[in-house]
Amino acid sequence: MKSYREILRDAEEKKIAIGHFNISTIDALWGIFDAAKERNVPVLIGASEGERDFIGISEVVSLVKNIRGEHDYPIYLNADHTYSLERVKEAVDAGFDSVIFDGAKLPIEENIRITRECVEYAKSVDHNILVEAELGYIGSSSKMLDAVPEGASLGDMITTVDEAIHFVKETGVDLFAPAVGNIHGMLKGMPDPALNIERVREIKEAVGIPLVLHGASGNSDDDIRAAIKAGIRIVHINTEIRVAWKKGVEEHLQAKPDDVAPYAILKDAKAHVKEVVGHKLDLFANL
Ligand code: G3H
Ligand code: ZN
Repeated sequence: MKSYREILRDAEEKKIAIGHFNISTIDALWGIFDAAKERNVPVLIGASEGERDFIGISEVVSLVKNIRGEHDYPIYLNADHTYSLERVKEAVDAGFDSVIFDGAKLPIEENIRITRECVEYAKSVDHNILVEAELGYIGSSSKMLDAVPEGASLGDMITTVDEAIHFVKETGVDLFAPAVGNIHGMLKGMPDPALNIERVREIKEAVGIPLVLHGASGNSDDDIRAAIKAGIRIVHINTEIRVAWKKGVEEHLQAKPDDVAPYAILKDAKAHVKEVVGHKLDLFANL
């Protein structure tokens, strides 16, 4: 089975992206895995601080590792949006395959200092653990939005090439998540702001390491395709999965209001998640 680094190398060679999908429950995990397996593409599972607290930190690690082992399949687990060194250490110790320190709201030098500590700690435990960091605030919730998140780095405020070079050089991160017009969450009734594809290309050329696009729910397929061409190698989707999951539960309960078996109700949630993830995987891998 290919390692995390190998699937990233493959994505780089093919100029495609790997899908990263967040979970709060096991039915969503199965929906994501089934969609990936049907297409025979590697996949990343994300669990933010809140999501992994809900599932259980060591439990989510066991779930993903068991699926990887049982199916001999390249599915890896990322500790998404982690806001402190303590919680990065906790995720590394629990056996996550990668971890994101999110210091996007901090002044850049403080973000650099803590990110560097995260890299040092992760590599001291296992040099195969990948560390990602974020530069440029893009909001912090995967939810339906009435307006762009307050303080989001959009327009002239997106990550600059010079900042990206400085940040990557000083921290030694494996993966870099810039603000390039993307926002966490998804606007109600209208598309999310357009991505700055030129900036993606410039940053990619300047830093060389794989770039990660967060907040891709609500962005158009064309924008995402162009961003991948320009150098994005991992794309994060959460809100669209949550919306699909909720729709599955609602539709099931409307059709069968007397049902009480969670495995019956959540089967529809799983199917809806699988459908959304399938579409994204086709897009990311250019299938
Ligand atoms: O890390 C998670 C993602 O960046 C999710 O963003 O909810 O806008 O899809 P999204
Ligand atoms: Zn994110």
